[in-house]
Amino acid sequence: MPDISEKNTGTPVEKQIAVLITGASGGFGLEYAKQIEPQGYRLILHGRDRPRLQMTLDSLKHPERHSLVLADLNRKDGVSTLLEAVRYETLVGLVNNAGFGIWGAFEKTGIVPQVDVIKTDLKAPIEITHALLPALLKNNGFVINVSSLAGEAPLPYMSTYAAAKAGLTFWSEALRTELEGKLRVVTLAPGPSPTGFRDVSGMPSGPGSFFRTSISTIVEASLETLNAGGGYCVPGWRHKLLFTLQKITPRSIALRLMKKHLHP
Ligand SMILES: NC(=O)c1ccc[n+]([C@@H]2O[C@H](COP(=O)([O-])OP(=O)(O)OC[C@H]3O[C@@H](n4cnc5c(N)ncnc54)[C@H](OP(=O)(O)O)[C@@H]3O)[C@@H](O)[C@H]2O)c1
Repeated sequence: MPDISEKNTGTPVEKQIAVLITGASGGFGLEYAKQIEPQGYRLILHGRDRPRLQMTLDSLKHPERHSLVLADLNRKDGVSTLLEAVRYETLVGLVNNAGFGIWGAFEKTGIVPQVDVIKTDLKAPIEITHALLPALLKNNGFVINVSSLAGEAPLPYMSTYAAAKAGLTFWSEALRTELEGKLRVVTLAPGPSPTGFRDVSGMPSGPGSFFRTSISTIVEASLETLNAGGGYCVPGWRHKLLFTLQKITPRSIALRLMKKHLHP
């Protein structure tokens, strides 16, 4: 398990040094909670679904050390509710993980869910990071932005999701470079993974299944990147292969292929 504390000194629990994980009610967020807890941090677990968030808490070794925050990042007051809940915490880490996509023809999908993808996957991480940056800098901390390989190429029938993740990747990589030597930033870009993502997006399980990589491999790779000082992380050999294919395939051909694979 990678040790994410920069200097590997101190006793995080005694000092109640905290890590905020958004979207911790399942998938990657749950795995982040499991992999970060052994390092002694207090975890602030965010989500919308209280019973599933409680299941994350109950799966941890020391649930009494951690707390839950409910906030819908699509709502106008979502980010402010979350920020209010962490106001008095000594934050050393932020994992911007909450997100979702919608699959289907753009012309047949309502505008509200399309805009909600932008709010949750792009606007919220930028707002949360901006508000928490002074504390994270003061505490020699880190930010992990869970983006996607969907941010590396346009995706027909998931157009808004790919746009949101492209925005998140570009923002995160620029931020990482701006803050070099002051704050460790990881941009995580996974491909298909066995989480609740497909059910939420409505996408069938077929396309991209060869590239599927385990949740634990993905989260561990991102924590190793963090431990190495931050960086752009494409986890596991299958996702690295997909990333290479994205880079060498001309966009016109990739668009045709993706249209065929993702057609509803
Ligand atoms: N799975 C993949 O194939 C894949 C690949 C690349 C990147 N990603 C990214 O990985 C991240 C985590 O997703 P996952 O794959 O672990 O899927 P997941 O199991 O569906 O988890 C998504 C998490 O995001 C939270 N969330 C979604 N919309 C929210 C909103 N409006 N307000 C607050 N929380 C919200 C969910 O909370 P509630 O359940 O409590 O509503 C849940 O905890 C996302 O950013 C996703 O884009 C996933």
